[in-house]
Amino acid sequence: MSILIRDVDILPLDGSPLVRGGEIAIEGNRITVVGGTGSVTDDFKPEIVIDGQGLLASPGLINCHTHAAMTLFRGYADDLPLMKWLNNKIWPIEDKLTEEDIYWATMLACLEMIKSGTTAFADMYFHMDQVARAVSETGMRASLCRGLIGVAPNADEALEWSFGFAREFHESAEGRITVMLGPHAPYTCPPDYLRLVKDAAVELGVGVHIHLAETRSEVTQTAEGQGCTPVQLVERTGLFEVPVLAAHCVHLTDEDIAVLARYAVRVAHNPQSNMKLGSGVAPVVKLLEAGVMVGLGTDGAASNNDLDMVEEMRSASFLQKVTYEDPTVLPSDQALAMATLYGATALGLQDEVGTLEVGKKADIVLWDLQKPHLCPLHDVSAHLVYSARGSDARTVIVDGKVLMRDYEVLSLDEEAVMAEAERRARRLIAEVG
Ligand code: NI
Repeated sequence: MSILIRDVDILPLDGSPLVRGGEIAIEGNRITVVGGTGSVTDDFKPEIVIDGQGLLASPGLINCHTHAAMTLFRGYADDLPLMKWLNNKIWPIEDKLTEEDIYWATMLACLEMIKSGTTAFADMYFHMDQVARAVSETGMRASLCRGLIGVAPNADEALEWSFGFAREFHESAEGRITVMLGPHAPYTCPPDYLRLVKDAAVELGVGVHIHLAETRSEVTQTAEGQGCTPVQLVERTGLFEVPVLAAHCVHLTDEDIAVLARYAVRVAHNPQSNMKLGSGVAPVVKLLEAGVMVGLGTDGAASNNDLDMVEEMRSASFLQKVTYEDPTVLPSDQALAMATLYGATALGLQDEVGTLEVGKKADIVLWDLQKPHLCPLHDVSAHLVYSARGSDARTVIVDGKVLMRDYEVLSLDEEAVMAEAERRARRLIAEVG
């Protein structure tokens, strides 16, 4: 497939400036030209031509931490503290989920993400073969891991399953799917189990995705039980010696931040989930200053309650500003980088996606600038963070394929997915009583 996008404003986000009325050529799954008018030569005969007038092209947004299938629990358990939310509501209903539920719930998540300009996501859940099926069919890009509970009776079996999953699915779906190992958190995975996970990650050549230092109670319990911080606990297991994507990292000491920087641990910051669960404010400014790569995530839809990465950029910026009482911290260009190139780096995909550059995979969003809330167009990059809505995504391309064109999602049946998700969510609620 070859595509020409012409007469489009381009935000490459690779350090080069905004291009007005430019052109992007895509051949196969890669970007072959990005530049001003006339950059694409006449001998290029594209199969698809997209008129980009009034549109802004940016790299696709990257959701670095979610549990896609939790879309079925959107609005099911609100206004509860994390442990009560998990123990009394989420874990009991998750027990009732079937493989097909997870497939349809992930289809709903992919639908929502495509429609709000997200092209890639990092997912931790279970029945991950069903998540891979949804990713494969919808055309999205994803880094997948099964959540591993080290204290569960099936902990060893789950790790063994993850081996097989990694061998079968890592770099599958034309390379759109990559795999990590997913120890849920240090409070559900004892140190010996984390050591097993680390050895497995080394053997498989994959990274690790873990929740870390999410709540104050996690820090207090780790101090009481182990005499250290969650970050120190994980450091002692050697897990940081493999590439680690750590979700949340809300409660950190300065020494913890230095440890994360030393091991090049990537952090997935989830501002709206942290706010909604009352978890606290992650020290994002300090982490970035220390050189830690911080991407953005939505977390699951049961603690957000949507998967809109535009909102996440805005919340990340505003949350640091209000915390520091300083409007200059976490400016819009930094929030945009977190949602694109930093996110790509967090997923280990920085050489493939995250910017609009020749040679990179074509993961591109065309944002509709012809909206009252985006007028006048003083600063389109600031608009994308401070004024835009996810629903301004008009056309979405992943891996050189058009997944949504002029607001119509082409890679799945929107009405069927929503009807099926609604039906299954109602059944689940009836089952838990
Ligand atoms: Ni999470």
